[in-house]
Amino acid sequence: MKDKKPFSFSRRQFIDTAVKVSAVGGLAYIQMSGCGNEENEITPPPENKHVFLCKPYLHTLQHRQMCVRWITNKSSYSWVEYGDTEQLNQKAMHIEDGLVTTHERIHEIYLQNLEPGKTYYYRAASKEITEYNSLKTPFGETIYSSTYSFTTPDPAAREISWLVLNDLHDRPESFSELMELNSKDPYDFVFLNGDMFNYQSGEKQILEHLLIPCTDLFATQKPLLFVRGNHETRGNFAQRLKDYFAYPEGLFFHFHWGPVFAIVLDTGEDKGDDHPTYAGRANFNAYRREQTVWLEQLMQTDAYKNATYRVVMMHIPPFYCNQPSGEGEMHCNELFAPLFNQYKVDLVISGHTHKYGVHPPVSGKHNYPVIIGGGPKDNERTLMKIKANEKTLTVQMINDVNKPAGSYTIYA
Ligand SMILES: [Fe+2]
Repeated sequence: MKDKKPFSFSRRQFIDTAVKVSAVGGLAYIQMSGCGNEENEITPPPENKHVFLCKPYLHTLQHRQMCVRWITNKSSYSWVEYGDTEQLNQKAMHIEDGLVTTHERIHEIYLQNLEPGKTYYYRAASKEITEYNSLKTPFGETIYSSTYSFTTPDPAAREISWLVLNDLHDRPESFSELMELNSKDPYDFVFLNGDMFNYQSGEKQILEHLLIPCTDLFATQKPLLFVRGNHETRGNFAQRLKDYFAYPEGLFFHFHWGPVFAIVLDTGEDKGDDHPTYAGRANFNAYRREQTVWLEQLMQTDAYKNATYRVVMMHIPPFYCNQPSGEGEMHCNELFAPLFNQYKVDLVISGHTHKYGVHPPVSGKHNYPVIIGGGPKDNERTLMKIKANEKTLTVQMINDVNKPAGSYTIYA
């Protein structure tokens, strides 16, 4: 497990105000008193209660395991109780180097050896540790989430569907407003295609502007996948983001589910590495080149070549960025676009430009459609609904006044 830091609020945010954060089973009161990362930044809720700061969220698309994450206000000994019935007869913890991870508030627990395509029930449990001592471990209160269920991906599934949101830019109300456009259509997971925030300022922002709305809406039962946009690379909490959202493969990753082989690229900053804003702290050119090597190796696998649909999701599109393009944007085009043609990508889904649109294939330029979601302002936001079966993959884009904003169909 990665080094998990407690709350971090900048000095600029030093305000003597208790902020209510909705939590499982009640409210947690977080007092923002930023002086670095000290644990004492957290003001306990009334009666010194140990509470969840968000409901548990599901975070992988693997056939035999599921990552469950959640956050508590105090360091705790945590586990997941789970099973294929609501009896929850199994228990999982995070064990590293012979020790159960206990001195954490961000809990990351993998349920292993699951059966593909099967429904499981689970609940999160956290037992407060009131004191660390070499000879004894005094425990405090144990808190439990509600019981939720999820279904593991089935590699042999004949169809899958997912929703895409992008470029919400710190507008948490957009989650419910856009998800409502889906009506009651079934879907398997939700993909957040970057720029969910303006810049990273701390855990409170991640909770209030993403985790709480998403767990209230879907993420307790449907996996939440997230890739960074260029705005998530900014701010003093940017490097902590992976504590909340990293995958087994890292910040760029792939998954193969039913007819779809999907590749997720972390396109980095849209500015050049030598941009004065970063003062020498950026090295995205090398990071994108690293992804290019990984990408080409992935595209040479039989699983990729034999997939019915090969889909790339990336925040910065390989084409159609606003002009004049930034150096990071041009680098995405230069590195990734030739590989997409060479290895016959079927579809690229992006955001970033804040101008939604469906760009059909242009022979020799991009032999695949590039579909770009909009945002973040009212009347410019979009929800994408993607459904793939053995015959077709369809993308339907709806704008936030519930009007069609573009669609595309790929035939197998
Ligand atoms: Fe962007």
